Amino acid sequence: MASLTVRKLEEALKAELRLRAARHGRSVEDEVRSILRDAVAAGDSHDVSAPGAAPPPVDATPSPTAAPHPAASSGGSARVTLIIGGGIAAYKSLDLIRRLKERGVAVRCILTRAGAEFITPLSVSALAHAPCFTDLFDPRSEFDVGHIRLARDCDLLVVAPATADLMAKMANGLADDLASATLLAAGRPILLAPAMNPLMWSNPATKRNVARLTADGRHFVGPNRGEMAEAGEAGTGRMAEPLEIVAAALSLLAPPAPRPLAGTRILITAGPTHEPIDPVRYIANRSSGKQGYAIAAAAAAAGAAVTLVSGPVALADPAGVSVIRVESARDMLAAVEAQLPADVAIFAAAVADWRVAQAGTQKLKKTAAGPPTLAFAENPDILATISQRTSGRPPLVIGFAAETEHLIDNARAKLKRKGCDWLVANDVSPATGVMGGDRNTVHLLKRDSDAVESWPVMGKDEVAATLVARIAEAVKG
Ligand SMILES: Cc1cc2nc3c(=O)[nH]c(=O)nc-3n(C[C@H](O)[C@H](O)[C@H](O)COP(=O)(O)O)c2cc1C
Repeated sequence: MASLTVRKLEEALKAELRLRAARHGRSVEDEVRSILRDAVAAGDSHDVSAPGAAPPPVDATPSPTAAPHPAASSGGSARVTLIIGGGIAAYKSLDLIRRLKERGVAVRCILTRAGAEFITPLSVSALAHAPCFTDLFDPRSEFDVGHIRLARDCDLLVVAPATADLMAKMANGLADDLASATLLAAGRPILLAPAMNPLMWSNPATKRNVARLTADGRHFVGPNRGEMAEAGEAGTGRMAEPLEIVAAALSLLAPPAPRPLAGTRILITAGPTHEPIDPVRYIANRSSGKQGYAIAAAAAAAGAAVTLVSGPVALADPAGVSVIRVESARDMLAAVEAQLPADVAIFAAAVADWRVAQAGTQKLKKTAAGPPTLAFAENPDILATISQRTSGRPPLVIGFAAETEHLIDNARAKLKRKGCDWLVANDVSPATGVMGGDRNTVHLLKRDSDAVESWPVMGKDEVAATLVARIAEAVKG
């Protein structure tokens, strides 16, 4: 809802929203939601009764740190039926209830008889702000076949902890208590968070049950490796942490994201290069790789098949991206060429212009003759090499220009010199904090236009999302 509305706003208002969002470290959509929530809290009935305005989450107590689930802010809470089985990890499910509610998810809970040996229905219902169901033959909840309601009146069922026993019942279609009967009647996706001793998890019977549940389309989060409650025992069987379960639940609850780049192959470079002086020393630069990694993540989220050729950085691989790690500029060029063809190539890496002509094969030693003199050789120019290919050139080649002075003039000259299609220019002088920081101010220049598109200061994630949106428009065009 919000993204459609934001797109339709006039440019000045959009720019103001982006600035506000950047100041608060939120996405533009979350900024809009926050403004609407504030309006609701202030009792501003004029704004919130407008068609399309988001009502406050139903039955929810959002914390300032947790963004509400989209379903909650677009007309009602997402609803989860949480089934808590009889394992030690049941105590973590109390935190899970809290974490889900923080995100505006309405939670109704079923506690199995064995689960009630570990935690009480009272603490479950106090945290869920709703009665905790325990009994299949309870006249107060079954006067209208309540277990069918619990199975149907929700968007997702979560079983945490999913004990070996509960999974065995599910795999075999048993329905002799409220939890198993509800699960058998479920018409919604089911997410299981198994928790048990590693020997139970690796037992062939459990493996068979997990395989059958997977084939039945059930979703799993965890179990993780780690220490068990039993003294001195470790292995695979720990229940996933509450926030991991929340993330898995929210991704199942989320409406399918638009995938404007489905079917598009994108090749991206990121990070610095390391140019060896000898086996232990190298020349590097201050690039963190954050901008290139953010672009890779945004392109993958938009449905592209993304390959990221990365110099040495301290960042985790973005989800859904194939990462090739290299060190030097020459390695990077070889990896890039090996990954062609691509529909789009984005060169965000800070590639060293020069390397040491004769890197030592042994560690250089201090000598009485004083420090060594290093002679440099020019590195291959990856952006120019790919832009000027006569065959197999990606139809859209985008370069990055990191400048410390005369930003636009230098960028315009670089665009011409290299032969790429677009150039993203950013000012990396130390005062901007761009190198290694989380924000960026960029200008987009295109080969076939004299115009310069200057974007406001944004988080690197938002720069990535904006660039990916522009690429999607170009690819579609
Ligand atoms: C102290 C204790 C801890 C237990 N922990 C687990 C566990 O982590 N995972 C599991 O599958 N079973 C565990 N069990 C066994 C289950 O409680 C038992 O199989 C029970 O029938 C499961 O009931 P449910 O189907 O309602 O979950 C434990 C039992 C005890 C006594």
